[in-house]
Amino acid sequence: MILSIETSCDETAAALVEREEGGVRVVSSVVSSQIALHAPFGGVVPALAAREHAKNIVPVIETALREANISANHIEAIAVTGGPGLSPALRIGIMAGKTLSYLMEKPLLPIHHIEGHIYANTILPSQASPHSSEFHFPLLALVVSGGHTELVLVRTHFAYEIRGATEDDAAGEAFDKVAKMLGLPTQAGPEIARRAEIFRALPEKERSPAPEFPRPMIDSGDFRFSFSGLKTAVLYFLKKNVANKESDHFIEAVSFAFEEAVLETLLAKTRLALETFQPATLTVVGGVSANTELRRRMRALTQTQFPGTHFMIPELRYSLDNAAMIGAAALFRFERMSDTHKDRARALWKTLGADPNLPLGAYEECLATS
Ligand code: KG4
Ligand code: ZN
Repeated sequence: MILSIETSCDETAAALVEREEGGVRVVSSVVSSQIALHAPFGGVVPALAAREHAKNIVPVIETALREANISANHIEAIAVTGGPGLSPALRIGIMAGKTLSYLMEKPLLPIHHIEGHIYANTILPSQASPHSSEFHFPLLALVVSGGHTELVLVRTHFAYEIRGATEDDAAGEAFDKVAKMLGLPTQAGPEIARRAEIFRALPEKERSPAPEFPRPMIDSGDFRFSFSGLKTAVLYFLKKNVANKESDHFIEAVSFAFEEAVLETLLAKTRLALETFQPATLTVVGGVSANTELRRRMRALTQTQFPGTHFMIPELRYSLDNAAMIGAAALFRFERMSDTHKDRARALWKTLGADPNLPLGAYEECLATS
């Protein structure tokens, strides 16, 4: 069993996970969100996030242990997000992980946040079902979160090739910025999605014409993304139509048009990547993958146009930031580590630091497989 910790942004999270036939079982998973705290500032304030993590980290770990109802000697290792993320925020989780590792004399496994998002797929569904969560390689992962938009080809466990990424804003960042322009709450991907859904559900004759926004780089023929031009197009449109900004129907139409532009771009690039790499599995991970319409279209794309490709997506609660996904990645790392590497990981509490720009595939030297 592994105790895992995640504090890279505005969620304080801890979990206990264990390896089971076919995947990872979550014994307990606790997430304490700070969304409401940062809302008045229109974005996550790093120093404020760190203060909240410092206040909540021990109670969150304590709750995870209590809910799991296990004694501490069942824990074989401690896992913690080492980056990327906000340094002051990451540091709180890392400090907690280092302290536990030192006192319990257990290996400390630093995990890349995006690796965690990818391994959220290995978490077994809560209801008993014959579903297997093992990976079939090569696996293509569309990573869409607040900080990342990239297509990652995973050849085998922990062997990542980033085949394309955003040139400017991440998809989630665009959702958050457009939400702010529309006066919706921050971290408002879900709020834009909700408004877009209202518009989408209207019969054609009851819809006002929705604006058409650009789909930057959609035809670039490669795997690069760009969302800042789209964001600017929304900004100009809102400036021109300032009188309508109070109308719910107007906000729903803009949310719909914006969401369509993002989804169509993500779909087009993913389709090209599926044709190019012919992966055994497609997965969509990161906070934006909580978007219902994106989940629906990606599943449909795979089923209708790439029937030989297996589609995987984490359960909704493990798509958003959580610690169970960090523990899941750590379990797969841990079972492949040699005794020498486990010994080294037992001493990592002395040196591990936060890395806000950690590259995917880092830590290979300390977590390397035998
Ligand atoms: O992975 P995540 O929880 O944190 C990061 O690692 O960044 O992703 C958060 C991002 C935010 O930008 C949020 O607006 C977006 O995911 N998001 C959504 C939805 N739910 C969360 N975007 C679109 N539709 C959603 N339903
Ligand atoms: Zn995330």
